[in-house]
Amino acid sequence: MTRKIRKAILPVAGFGTRVLPATKAVPKEMLAVFDRPAIQYVVDEARAAGIEHIVFVTGRNKSAIEDYFDVAYELEESLRAKSKTALIEDLRPTRLEAGAASFVRQQEPKGLGHAVWCARDIIGDEPFALLLPDMIMLPDANAPGCLEAMIAAHAAHGGNIIGVNAVAPEFAHLYGIVAVGAKKDIGFEISGMVEKPPAGTAPSNLYINGRYVLQPEIFDILATQERGAGGEIQITDGMRKLMSWQPFHGVEFQGRVYDCGDKIGYLRATAALAMANAAYGADAVAALQDELAIAARHRPA
Ligand code: G1P
Repeated sequence: MTRKIRKAILPVAGFGTRVLPATKAVPKEMLAVFDRPAIQYVVDEARAAGIEHIVFVTGRNKSAIEDYFDVAYELEESLRAKSKTALIEDLRPTRLEAGAASFVRQQEPKGLGHAVWCARDIIGDEPFALLLPDMIMLPDANAPGCLEAMIAAHAAHGGNIIGVNAVAPEFAHLYGIVAVGAKKDIGFEISGMVEKPPAGTAPSNLYINGRYVLQPEIFDILATQERGAGGEIQITDGMRKLMSWQPFHGVEFQGRVYDCGDKIGYLRATAALAMANAAYGADAVAALQDELAIAARHRPA
């Protein structure tokens, strides 16, 4: 019997330097992707996969995230007084149940591995999910969410599970890349991994898409605080060490992944999530087609 994955870590301490000036005074996770903050999509994905408790690893200037998932008492009372029930309903996913979230600070930007390690006491001795909020997942029609599919793989294989997607060779140096071992009914064995490989050296075309199911032994490895790529404590390096005695499987996500860590990725996410929105999708497609036609007319020759 594998243990249920109950808790998830969401590291939200980053500065968002690649989206400045938008992120000067607003956490990047709070920038709206169409009609809700980017982080809402990631929290929804976690909850749909059965996650019961979310650990946000925050930093200074990130208190808007904590407020967003709290009860907005005055706002809700005022909407109630005006009988704006549809708007009250829209706020429902923004509430986390009492006691279902923790906030811990990463005091210095020492890397993703260090951010994860900051949550060790709250996670304790059980396997957990890790979701990087820069990455927003849009499943194909009828496909499960990325984390949901990975938790199913964990129930089948145990051990550690990494979400992957295909990447064009020219972008491989921006991500962690896995090496592919034996294929399984669900997913495949991972036989190696490397963080941000120099151009032309990636072991496959499958990149780590920002979703993980990890065993708690990773914390002991991260505690050694060894620096890797970019002088940072890397989760990929920690996982590579853990691989020498625990199994890792990869699961390819059936859908689109939007990397909101840079301006064009963020733009794509905004357009895609607007077009995928149940209420506004058709209008969004029409508006974007209009804008494209207009832009084509005005672009300098
Ligand atoms: C991190 C991980 C990397 C992964 C990526 C996905 O990199 O270290 O392995 O592929 O997230 O977004 P970062 O984006 O923090 O540089």
